[in-house]
Amino acid sequence: MKYALIGCGRISPNHIEAAKNNNLEIVAMCDIIPEIIQEKSEKFGLAYVKKYTDYKELLVNEKPELVAIATESGKHATIALDCIEAGCNVIIEKPIALSIADAQAIIDAGKRKGVLVCANHQNRFNKSVQYIRKALDAGRFGKLSHGAAHIRWNRGASYYTQAPWRGTWIQDGGCLMNQCIHNIDLLRWMMGDDIEEVMAYTDQIEHPYLEAEDLGMALVKFKNGSYGLIEGTTNVYPKNLEETLYIFGQNGTVKAGGTSDNIIEEWSFADKLDDPEYVKATYHENPPNVYGFGHTPLYADVIHAIENGREPYVDGEAGKRALELVLAIYKSAAEHRPVKLPLTACSTMDFVGRFD
Ligand SMILES: NC(=O)c1ccc[n+]([C@@H]2O[C@H](COP(=O)([O-])OP(=O)(O)OC[C@H]3O[C@@H](n4cnc5c(N)ncnc54)[C@H](O)[C@@H]3O)[C@@H](O)[C@H]2O)c1
Repeated sequence: MKYALIGCGRISPNHIEAAKNNNLEIVAMCDIIPEIIQEKSEKFGLAYVKKYTDYKELLVNEKPELVAIATESGKHATIALDCIEAGCNVIIEKPIALSIADAQAIIDAGKRKGVLVCANHQNRFNKSVQYIRKALDAGRFGKLSHGAAHIRWNRGASYYTQAPWRGTWIQDGGCLMNQCIHNIDLLRWMMGDDIEEVMAYTDQIEHPYLEAEDLGMALVKFKNGSYGLIEGTTNVYPKNLEETLYIFGQNGTVKAGGTSDNIIEEWSFADKLDDPEYVKATYHENPPNVYGFGHTPLYADVIHAIENGREPYVDGEAGKRALELVLAIYKSAAEHRPVKLPLTACSTMDFVGRFD
């Protein structure tokens, strides 16, 4: 399957490795900075692939079947719509877009053109997360009480200087939209997806040079009667501490932990169907960074979905739901009131000037 990558920055190695691990035919790489393509292509033994600084030329010349989009988040929607229009299936890095309207436009365009849209929430493929999901689908938790997502990370000034788009409203959003959206996605997905209402605070405490927040605290009321708690920040001294996901049900308690939900730290079920010590030892990964090992299985799923004419495991709607929850948190915090879902219109651009 002919594959191309658009955006060859920090996260691109995970895409290149996922494409290679899945035997995709990597036909082209694109970045507006030629040196970046050069560096990445050499580093990964891809000096032979075609290199483009204009993705539209790439689409016309190479006609890839699958394209991954790993540019600044604010560019995802325009590039994705062009790729879809050219008949390509797309894997779009998180967040899928920065507005509800753009996310919906991507979903609609995919349907209209008969191509697949995948939102790159790779942590859904963590071994730990997959095993928790299996327990949930089997009904082992019983009635859900509540869940909690904590993202206690650190990002310092050098991280933002490297790429000045980070922390801006037009290209990114703050820590909730960028760093925390993976765990926010997991919480929503595990707790039943359907949300009634969100109440939140966001603030900017340690990063005055950003436009957006570096701390978010939110409460979520799910339609199934359960609740969610979100605490996300990039202010933790002096380095990433943890990313944890708790799920509490009538008959089960689970905690995923590590720096990005890669391990299971608590596993208690009334049914005693498995040995907690065995579960903790088995569904345990130790990735070199917070990006984990999820890109490769996410790509495998997308390829299988294309070949079998089905929706991917993490489709465009899933990407839109994660985006919607972050935007609802922003809206509630900005307006000092609970916000009902679904959000029909909202964008990071609605919050320009919030922390000025
Ligand atoms: N899934 C994850 O765990 C994860 C981790 C990090 C970043 N991300 C997401 O990936 C995206 C990229 O993040 P990053 O940290 O790699 O950013 P980055 O700034 O390091 O890389 C982005 C690259 O895109 C290039 N680019 C910009 N416009 C382009 C265009 N029109 N055509 C081609 N290339 C273009 C830039 O020159 C840059 O090299 C963001 O949306 C971010 O949220 C996801």
